[in-house]
Amino acid sequence: MSRWEPGGKRQGQGRSRRVRHRSDVARKPTPTREPDLALDVERLANDGSGIAHAADGRIVFVPGAAPGDRILARVTEARRTLLRAEIIEVLEPGPDRVQPACAAFGRCGGCAWQHIDYPAQVEAKAAILDNALERIGGLDLPGPVVVTPSPEPYEYRGRARLLVQGHRPGYRRAASDDHIAVEDCPVLAAPLRTALRQLIAARPANGEWELALGEADATHPEGVRVLHLDDPEHGGAPLTLRARDHQVQIAAGGFAQANPLLFDALIEAISNAVGSGERLLELYAGAGFFTLPLASRFQQIVAVESDAAAVANLQSAAAAAGIEHIEAKVADVESFLAPGQPGQYAASLPSRFTPEVVFMDPPRAGLGHAVTTRLCAPGPGRLVYLSCDPATFARDLGHLHEGGWRLQSVAGFDLFPQTPHIEGLAVLVR
Ligand SMILES: C[S@@+](CC[C@H](N)C(=O)[O-])C[C@H]1O[C@@H](n2cnc3c(N)ncnc32)[C@H](O)[C@@H]1O
Repeated sequence: MSRWEPGGKRQGQGRSRRVRHRSDVARKPTPTREPDLALDVERLANDGSGIAHAADGRIVFVPGAAPGDRILARVTEARRTLLRAEIIEVLEPGPDRVQPACAAFGRCGGCAWQHIDYPAQVEAKAAILDNALERIGGLDLPGPVVVTPSPEPYEYRGRARLLVQGHRPGYRRAASDDHIAVEDCPVLAAPLRTALRQLIAARPANGEWELALGEADATHPEGVRVLHLDDPEHGGAPLTLRARDHQVQIAAGGFAQANPLLFDALIEAISNAVGSGERLLELYAGAGFFTLPLASRFQQIVAVESDAAAVANLQSAAAAAGIEHIEAKVADVESFLAPGQPGQYAASLPSRFTPEVVFMDPPRAGLGHAVTTRLCAPGPGRLVYLSCDPATFARDLGHLHEGGWRLQSVAGFDLFPQTPHIEGLAVLVR
């Protein structure tokens, strides 16, 4: 795949010249009375937009803008303190503006940052995490947030959801449910790009599909699972993922980490963060992607997960590995951690199971107040929190801090290059 086009630079290469924004990629503007604006783009927002300020001081969010760009922009939404605008023309590109690799960039909602050089994306993600923790969580950070980059900025994704309409695979348009058909997707791992091309040629049934990459096994000789989620009988056999020295099974539609290039780094960081000891409580454990690699560090582990199929897979993976000291439970964390006996951390835990460490990896909604309140009750001496949403991460860490926990370290992992998403990992001590 060539990423070079005249007038732009590809990721990691020299400065670009004046770039005309793809006017075909912009969504139809809603007319406003605001005049067009010449703006200097300052930095990137959590949603991926560039941030600038209008001459009257109002903050302006501009999708597709890069820091350092000078742009001409049309206002699409005007509020008292805030404007949203779209690029009419990039008058002077910023130092990190590059040529996007994908023909669907700007229309497809999957990637918002292909026009930004990868090192600048990583820097912006550290700033997003840092800002969220300070502004939402009210936290003083123990040091600068360091983000571990993905070893590859493209061809990294081991899992993707597709929307098929009119028998054409695609994704959802940015900020909308509309379908946009694609011919290729350069963030997919190479075997999944091939699978996507084959799916396109097969004119598949309409609905939601999933492409996933795992280990080669009897049902997935190439390690690729192509699943019609509306018809799980179609391709629905569990997929094997390698988790360091272990293997876990991911059921059809079940959660799986999506950047195999960072699996080892993530497991290593979490292993170091939890340390070792007698008793570990793991919340939101999924199919055991972290549980199995952590098993050698603790004498007893209780793993809690609401998805019964994932728990069954965790149990069978542990049994296959000869591990007997993991107790996996199907439960909602909120009810699992409901107040229990005095001196016992949670009513549902085995008697005398007082965890020294709690590791949790919730979905985007985060832990929420009921769970953070419970985690502030007397109990473990260390919390390790892996999060895929900086805003809920910051909110929860703020509650935990108010409840007596001290933030010891925060790190980031860039599981999703070309998007503003960033995974945060925090360690808290009493
Ligand atoms: C981000 S995933 C992490 C899974 C696992 N740690 C992994 O890496 O594969 C979050 C998991 O939390 C589970 N989950 C969501 N809400 C839950 C709840 N209220 N209680 C327990 N588990 C929940 C989901 O089914 C999912 O497996």
